[in-house]
Amino acid sequence: MSSDQRFFDFLKERIGLDVTSVGPAIIERAVRQRTTLSQAAHSDEYWQLLQGSRDEQQALIEAVIVPETWFFRYPESFATLGKLARKRLDQLNNMRALRILSLPCSTGEEPYSIAMALLDAGLKPHQFKVDGMDVSPLSVDKARRGLYGKNSFRGQDLGFRERHFTAEQDGHRVSEAVREQVRLQAGNVLDPTLLAGEPPFDFVFCRNLLIYFDQPTQKQVFEVLKRLTHVDGVLFIGPAEGSLLGRLGMRSIGIPQSFAFSRHAEPMPEPVALPTPTPLPVRQPLRSPPPVSPPVRPRPF
Ligand SMILES: C[S@@+](CC[C@H](N)C(=O)[O-])C[C@H]1O[C@@H](n2cnc3c(N)ncnc32)[C@H](O)[C@@H]1O
Repeated sequence: MSSDQRFFDFLKERIGLDVTSVGPAIIERAVRQRTTLSQAAHSDEYWQLLQGSRDEQQALIEAVIVPETWFFRYPESFATLGKLARKRLDQLNNMRALRILSLPCSTGEEPYSIAMALLDAGLKPHQFKVDGMDVSPLSVDKARRGLYGKNSFRGQDLGFRERHFTAEQDGHRVSEAVREQVRLQAGNVLDPTLLAGEPPFDFVFCRNLLIYFDQPTQKQVFEVLKRLTHVDGVLFIGPAEGSLLGRLGMRSIGIPQSFAFSRHAEPMPEPVALPTPTPLPVRQPLRSPPPVSPPVRPRPF
């Protein structure tokens, strides 16, 4: 076993990171950085320190994660969300607020974009709530501060910044109205008790996370996502993650560039082609009447 392998294994076990997805150099550099900062003499000493310190474990995780994100990343998915959310509220007769999850939420751009998109689509604040979650407490803290620099605003259409932010000396601060829609917390998608006991979400955004996992971990995480997504819900993923979902029994909802998936509808029985009947004076059942089937639940959207 190379001396670095134990760090690779540690990160795989703790956050699912597959070394081949980012390349060993990134992890080796993070280990060197943390070895120096923690004043360990060499990587063996750092390994010992890491074993005994949860803070150091979190610091190593912070050093390897990729918090890359920005507002309205893949804009079509937010436009799609706006339309689907209105339909979903109609479907629910407005009886409860929509529940939306952004996991991983990184530094908050994604959950705040969701809230802005829904407010811009005409939803009232009481009609939805967004949960944002990420394994990095530092990123979650930054999300809570809600202050963003240029890098977070990358698209062509920045009208949302005029509507939902105020300019400050160090950047743009997201409005209180948007922040109130979003609850932020640290959490690990590999935690088997994650959000246990919470009702499922109508919409789940899990974008640009599965690409960092190997296939068994992707499957494990997919099961978590399935548990968290309402049976009539929609899962939004990153552009590179679609083929995986197809293999795992989800299907695209068919809106280009939205990267939105729902569960497969139950296969419908093939319609049987009957010969054109001579009209009978009275409709008679040909066989015993079929059992009364439960009402067909509308498929999502
Ligand atoms: C590239 S960002 C994606 C952010 C956002 N979803 C987007 O697409 O713009 C990846 C995020 O995944 C988070 N992450 C990595 N492993 C995780 C895990 N096991 N559980 C929860 N979040 C994780 C990282 O902290 C990082 O913020």
